[in-house]
Amino acid sequence: MENIEISYTARYVPPEVIDNQRLTEFMDTSDEWISQRTGIKKRHISLNESTADLAKKVAEKLLTKSGWNPNSLDLIIVATMSPNSFTPATAAIVQGRISADNAVCFDISAACSGYIYGLSIVEAMLRNMNLKRAMLIGSENLSKLIDWNDRSTAVLFGDGAAGALIELKEDTDSKFISSDLKTIGNEAEFLTAGITDPLEKFPDLDSIRKYTTFKMDGRRVYTFATREVPQSILRAVQKANLSLEDIDYFILHQANSRIIRQVAKKLKQDEEKFPINIDSFGNTSAASEPLLLDELIENGTVKRGMTLALSGFGGGLTVGTHIIKY
Ligand code: ACO
Repeated sequence: MENIEISYTARYVPPEVIDNQRLTEFMDTSDEWISQRTGIKKRHISLNESTADLAKKVAEKLLTKSGWNPNSLDLIIVATMSPNSFTPATAAIVQGRISADNAVCFDISAACSGYIYGLSIVEAMLRNMNLKRAMLIGSENLSKLIDWNDRSTAVLFGDGAAGALIELKEDTDSKFISSDLKTIGNEAEFLTAGITDPLEKFPDLDSIRKYTTFKMDGRRVYTFATREVPQSILRAVQKANLSLEDIDYFILHQANSRIIRQVAKKLKQDEEKFPINIDSFGNTSAASEPLLLDELIENGTVKRGMTLALSGFGGGLTVGTHIIKY
């Protein structure tokens, strides 16, 4: 029987580290406000590196770790809300740079749920299209979408990328067990970035096209996340015929440590089962779950055979959970 395995993981964050104190030099905020309300202490900010540059670093690390020939990749997906361009897809740029000539490539846009949506797409494509090897990367350059004069969003986000090589293979105990995805489009306006306006007249020869920066109704998104994430986890656990106690770790999108603790409380689960690394990276959107997963694998917390629930939530509004046996 063939199963789906996360075979290798990797992460890359740009070298520039900006702590909360640094933000107070040009913004009316404080380390105390940011730490207490969000759990964030510092974030990495990319200078002169694009979303594709970050993703390519992860892709190269994955190829080095695995020893796989890039030509053996059938699929490359990049989950991102801050792509290099509307076209080409960031995944296509990565493919070109690592010479993975046989891979089909595209990006997906589901904001902070992008990696979780990506896991379901990878699973479906491996199972239904006779593919064997996929690379799924979450890569974000959110610093370029932020209005650095808006303290209510600017303090929250960081740049980074992380991902995995995912394989359909015989003789593995790993498996993708169940998933739950949900989209609430009528709450879309609570979190937006890069809105483009239609033409106002034709021909429009002298207008300068502009795109909006990141805007979020933090309170509404907080309420949405603490309501929807526990429900999504419960649906995925139920589909898997498991109980919450069977889950070794809940790897949640790192948007706010208060949200994560609230989800643990609602599910009546020990907070220890909800690892947190938002203090070092801020909210890295689609990169956040694989970034945390890679750290936990590297430091030995997550081991082969463990059952993990990965959950994301964010723009769309979107929410999703994917349960795997690692
Ligand atoms: N520094 C200091 N004060 C600030 C800052 C700041 N950086 N930002 C806002 N404030 C002030 C506000 O002006 C307000 O002041 P007032 O009471 O005088 O009006 C006060 O702090 C409280 O502001 P709130 O927005 O009500 O603060 P809240 O406790 O709700 O925390 C936060 C805000 C952290 C954004 C929270 O609502 C949150 O985490 N929301 C969820 C965000 C999220 O999960 N996003 C995930 C998706 S992201 C994606 O998809 C890409």
